[in-house]
Amino acid sequence: MKTLKKAVVVPVLANVQVTHDTWHITLEDKQIAHDSCGGQFVNVFVPQNNGVLWRRPFGIHTTDPDKGVFTLLYKQIGRGTTALTTVKAGEALDILGPLGNCFTHTSDLKEAIIVAGGIGIAPFPLFIQHLVQHSVKISVFYGARSKIDFCCLDFFRQTGVNLHLATEDGSSGHKGFITAPLLAYLQTLPDKPGARIYVCGPTPMLAKMKELCRDTGVPAEVSVETMMGCGFGACMGCPVPLENPASDGRLYALACKDGPVFNLEEIRFDE
Ligand SMILES: Cc1cc2nc3c(=O)[nH]c(=O)nc-3n(C[C@H](O)[C@H](O)[C@H](O)COP(=O)(O)OP(=O)(O)OC[C@H]3O[C@@H](n4cnc5c(N)ncnc54)[C@H](O)[C@@H]3O)c2cc1C
Ligand code: FES
Repeated sequence: MKTLKKAVVVPVLANVQVTHDTWHITLEDKQIAHDSCGGQFVNVFVPQNNGVLWRRPFGIHTTDPDKGVFTLLYKQIGRGTTALTTVKAGEALDILGPLGNCFTHTSDLKEAIIVAGGIGIAPFPLFIQHLVQHSVKISVFYGARSKIDFCCLDFFRQTGVNLHLATEDGSSGHKGFITAPLLAYLQTLPDKPGARIYVCGPTPMLAKMKELCRDTGVPAEVSVETMMGCGFGACMGCPVPLENPASDGRLYALACKDGPVFNLEEIRFDE
């Protein structure tokens, strides 16, 4: 049985703007830095803004267990993330986590193919840190609207992953969606049984990925970014439609408790 996590007050070490709309926040907590795996998230209460009632979920971006720090990468969207941009080093945040499950790494994995759209890149560096330690071949397919939206490119270059970029405006990499170069790559992939795709991005991209994985026969896991309330299975506020009823008859999984990582073939995108 899973024990309920207690919220912790976590010192902020830095909160830095990295693109026109994206920020990188560094937080200090030994337990979260030590316990988290790629795909998990924290649920953050933003105390500086009284109008924001619910915590906001963010994937754990990187960890440094030796220093007891972890980071989040977040895009400024609405009230909660705007409030988060005003948080300064030396202040503290009330955080619940790590929550949810992780991307899986089975012993037969030979190549991890990471596919990210926009801020969907956020949960992957932690998973990549893990894969690098286990000498797994890593290919990253990263799409954005324009080159000004890309984050973490230095990290990918330093890590030595096989990096493919696409932008909708053609300002960097392939012009169009990242699924086009990905499809070309999968069609010529020599070792399909040893490969697994890991996806995070906007819903239309996930729906396209489902088609593409079915057509090419490469299995995929997806991290969903369904809106959330409590973050631990109590409010039923994060339903994810399933292709087939679960063993208890439910037609929905809960993103916070059953995910946020799911097998792509298990979930439906038509609602
Ligand atoms: C498991 C999980 C992990 C996440 N990880 C990250 C991350 O690492 N980095 C990051 O930037 N974001 C991440 N998100 C999304 C992030 O939680 C939302 O962007 C954030 O809660 C928005 O809060 P807000 O108060 O700024 O926006 P709000 O004021 O609540 O909303 C502003 C607008 O954005 C829409 N919106 C809000 N949340 C979402 C969402 N999840 N998907 C689509 N539309 C939404 C609302 O409908 C509204 O129109 C994650 C979400 C989940 C569920
Ligand atoms: S967010 Fe409350 S049940 Fe998932």
